Amino acid sequence: MIESILFKDVELITSSEHRQGDVYVLNGKIVAIQPSLSVDTEYVVQEKGLALIPGVIDPHVHFREPGVTHKESIYTGSKAAVRGGVTSFFEMPNTKPATIDAETLALKKEIAAQSALANYNFFIGATTSNLTELNTVENVPGIKIFVGSSTGNMLVDDPELLIEIFKNGSRLIAVHSEDEATIKTNIRAYQCSTDVYDHTKIRNIEAAIKSTTQLVKLANQYQRRLHICHLTTAEEAVFLEKIGSKYVTTEVTPQHLLLSSPDCYAQLGTLAQINPPIREKRHAESLWQHLRKGTIHCIGTDHAPHTLDEKMKPFGQAPSGMPGVETSLPLLLTLAAKRQCSYSDVVKWLCEAPAKIYKINNKGYLKEGYDADLTLVDLKKKHKLLNKNIISKCGWTAFDGWDCIGDVVATFVNGQPVYREGDFFETIKGKEIQINV
Ligand code: DOR
Ligand code: ZN
Ligand code: ZN
Repeated sequence: MIESILFKDVELITSSEHRQGDVYVLNGKIVAIQPSLSVDTEYVVQEKGLALIPGVIDPHVHFREPGVTHKESIYTGSKAAVRGGVTSFFEMPNTKPATIDAETLALKKEIAAQSALANYNFFIGATTSNLTELNTVENVPGIKIFVGSSTGNMLVDDPELLIEIFKNGSRLIAVHSEDEATIKTNIRAYQCSTDVYDHTKIRNIEAAIKSTTQLVKLANQYQRRLHICHLTTAEEAVFLEKIGSKYVTTEVTPQHLLLSSPDCYAQLGTLAQINPPIREKRHAESLWQHLRKGTIHCIGTDHAPHTLDEKMKPFGQAPSGMPGVETSLPLLLTLAAKRQCSYSDVVKWLCEAPAKIYKINNKGYLKEGYDADLTLVDLKKKHKLLNKNIISKCGWTAFDGWDCIGDVVATFVNGQPVYREGDFFETIKGKEIQINV
């Protein structure tokens, strides 16, 4: 284990500034940030022209363990994460068994303690009968409700049950917000369709806005923290801006910002099939605007890997979901290089905002006293995202062939270098992320 690191003359990027400086890390913590430091350390980083950002926090991944590990595991998913500069992740409950009580939660935390290369925590998933568990399990980022069904069979769409969940307890509620009844009606109309484009008609705008309206109403009524995962429609963004609830935060994924229908379906077929769907360009543009304005608060990847074989099945049989944990930072750095946003925005959306929303202790910021979860980046490096370089077990990305400007050079988890220029140091393990209540 490395006790101390000195980062010499790096460009420090936070949501409010860029400055040159030195960072001294001791025993897993950032102990000093100064224009110039001279201390003897075990490990020194002093290449010219590199930038340092807080490690990315991905609050929305599906790592498929236990039970579905032919797609991914906590080990392979976390390895992909650190390759992409992600030092902390929150994982979703739709595994086998699903994470719905103290026992299934403890099992995931045990597996992660043994095998996760990044810091971790796990959502507790709502079912129709685990209200007590939702509020009694210890230290989770929140309760996940699939208000519309998606991969797995975790669905809570009964309004009475939703009221019970919102009424009892105080933990953050994160939602997959699509109206199940609307989806079911639409499925009947498109039952025989083999055209993946119809995915947007089944999981249409009405399904999204109807569900989101209902959930925001509950959040306001019961003064309960609601986090809407993967927002996809202009209509929801406009509604959320209008209503301006202090109880509600939202997330958007890189794929919903960067891809749009019909092109994504023409080019990628069912690889582009995700829930909620990728929609027409006007939605992507609106999501982008609202992210910049602050109606949308953070970026999460919804890393939802399936094997290529599974995804190549015809529409109707192919599962929904795409990977993303290792491509979000390079894609966002590229947008910043092209001046579509600033590097400070990238740090705000990928690092600071998730820490703030989920009340994470000591992470997400370049600040003295904070955990030394750090990502060293080369903002100028030109590279291509390619399936063959994907670390995730699924081995593909919807962004195959995309040109990027900016890449991860090294990733430090709790002051330990876990990834550096293609090499992984797998003896290093992440820790359970502590959530403030
Ligand atoms: O496309 C999706 N895939 N959306 C979800 O909500 C779940 C995810 C999965 O687990 O595959
Ligand atoms: Zn979802
Ligand atoms: Zn998800």
